[in-house]
Amino acid sequence: MRRERVDWREGAKKRAALEAVKHVREGFVIGLGSGTTVAYAVQEIGEKVRREGLRVLGVPTSHQVLRLAVSCGIPITTLDEHPQLDLTIDGADQVDRKLNLIKGMGGALMREKIVASAAKKLVIVVDETKLVEKLGMNHPVPVEVLPFALSVVMAKVRKLGGKPVLREGKDKVGPVVTDNGNFILDVEFGVIDDPGDLDVRLKSVPGVLETGLFVEVADVVYVGGRSGVQRLLKR
Ligand code: A5P
Repeated sequence: MRRERVDWREGAKKRAALEAVKHVREGFVIGLGSGTTVAYAVQEIGEKVRREGLRVLGVPTSHQVLRLAVSCGIPITTLDEHPQLDLTIDGADQVDRKLNLIKGMGGALMREKIVASAAKKLVIVVDETKLVEKLGMNHPVPVEVLPFALSVVMAKVRKLGGKPVLREGKDKVGPVVTDNGNFILDVEFGVIDDPGDLDVRLKSVPGVLETGLFVEVADVVYVGGRSGVQRLLKR
């Protein structure tokens, strides 16, 4: 039973990712998000580089996707060389109908928000379990925090109505350390009525480096289902 669910979700993720790759054009510089769904898109772009001689450059947002992109034969560049990106493709943890997102369960939210902001178009790929009426339903907001400020930030986040939990490593004792050398707080707020306002409040706390709330930045979201893919567009 469990096996069936896993297989179904992997198929849905891949279908959504393949739709996103249709936005890629010759010569594009592409922001590459992190996670298991966008990995299917990176593999497909790699196939096009190999088979069709497609010429693109990728800006990876984590060690995970850097290694994947290199193994797929996608040439890598930096934001210093290409501060404006043609396209960013990324996954998400929750998506609402206004195309607001919660991201960061893979810990790459800070670089992901930067490549999202640098891109002419942000295309998000998810399976349909990620689609929700309102962000925050049964899901925390990941927040990247400067280790020096951890206790101060936790106290201030509680005052904002959140319940912060320091993310712990699975194969290492102690906290998860991001690719930027910081900690992650997973903060439960319950249903979030105004994600933009919460993002601003969190960002105003000294020591908060970035939040996983991506508000009104996605242009297109592809939602993979059991058989097809739904396309949600920014209104
Ligand atoms: C990485 O920090 C995240 O923002 C991912 O993009 C997000 O967690 C989605 O990951 P999956 O595609 O693996 O669910």
